[in-house]
Amino acid sequence: MGLKGVILAGGLGKRLYPLTKITNKHLLPIYCKPMIYYPIQTLVDAGIQDILIVTGGMHAGEFLRLLGNGAQFGLKHINYTYQEGEGGIADALKLARHFVDKDKIVVILGDNIIEKSIKKSVDEFRDQPRGARILLKEVEDPERFGVAELKDKKIISIVEKPRKPRSNYAVTGIYMYDNQVFDIIKTLRPSGRGELEITDVNNAYLKRGELTYSILNGWWTDSGTFDSLLRANNLVAKMEQRSGCK
Ligand code: DAU
Repeated sequence: MGLKGVILAGGLGKRLYPLTKITNKHLLPIYCKPMIYYPIQTLVDAGIQDILIVTGGMHAGEFLRLLGNGAQFGLKHINYTYQEGEGGIADALKLARHFVDKDKIVVILGDNIIEKSIKKSVDEFRDQPRGARILLKEVEDPERFGVAELKDKKIISIVEKPRKPRSNYAVTGIYMYDNQVFDIIKTLRPSGRGELEITDVNNAYLKRGELTYSILNGWWTDSGTFDSLLRANNLVAKMEQRSGCK
């Protein structure tokens, strides 16, 4: 069984208006590169070569012009698909079914940027016979994210953007799933914000007793709000200045 990568880069990026009025959020600059470069590099660094980008909205064609077949990442080919509307993260993931076929997947949200390699966790997931694996990170503002409650080092619940978080462990936008994910998505109903929630997918695996996790090494940030976009730029600038933006 192979392992494939899926990058979710749909949605309208409304929280970044007017920056996203004439372009897709994931094409905005993070220091010296477009945002989408970082999740692609994350997957490539983890040893994943077979990648699907799910995008949407008015500017989807620009991804093809920017990335082509992924030669700048050492890839031979990139797959693309188009999400109609913005029905949520799990709605976007649904579109990966044909691409994934019988394989397992590493999913990364197009606005999630990390410092260190996830190769070790990905390799652990390769060896995991079934189920899902998520990556957690301790943060100061857990109420902005999905939050995992741990007991005896086991996840006992995940709540999406809780008003009163039960821990500081945010669920990062890097998810590893086996093939059951597509059947799970079929059972979901839209949440209060009208979206198919990835937190509901993770809770379905939890209920089956098939959800494992690792703690992410190094810094992690999303970049979907003005403050997190600025933070991402500052963190990446420090990193890229060291390597000369290669
Ligand atoms: O960043 C991690 C967080 O991402 C998690 O902790 C949360 O549990 C998860 O729900 C998500 O929270 P956000 O509300 O911040 O996600 P957002 O709506 O900003 O979407 C994140 C990315 O997902 C976005 O950059 C592109 C993709 N997406 C989103 C939607 C709503 C799609 O591809 N299609 C969509 O319809």
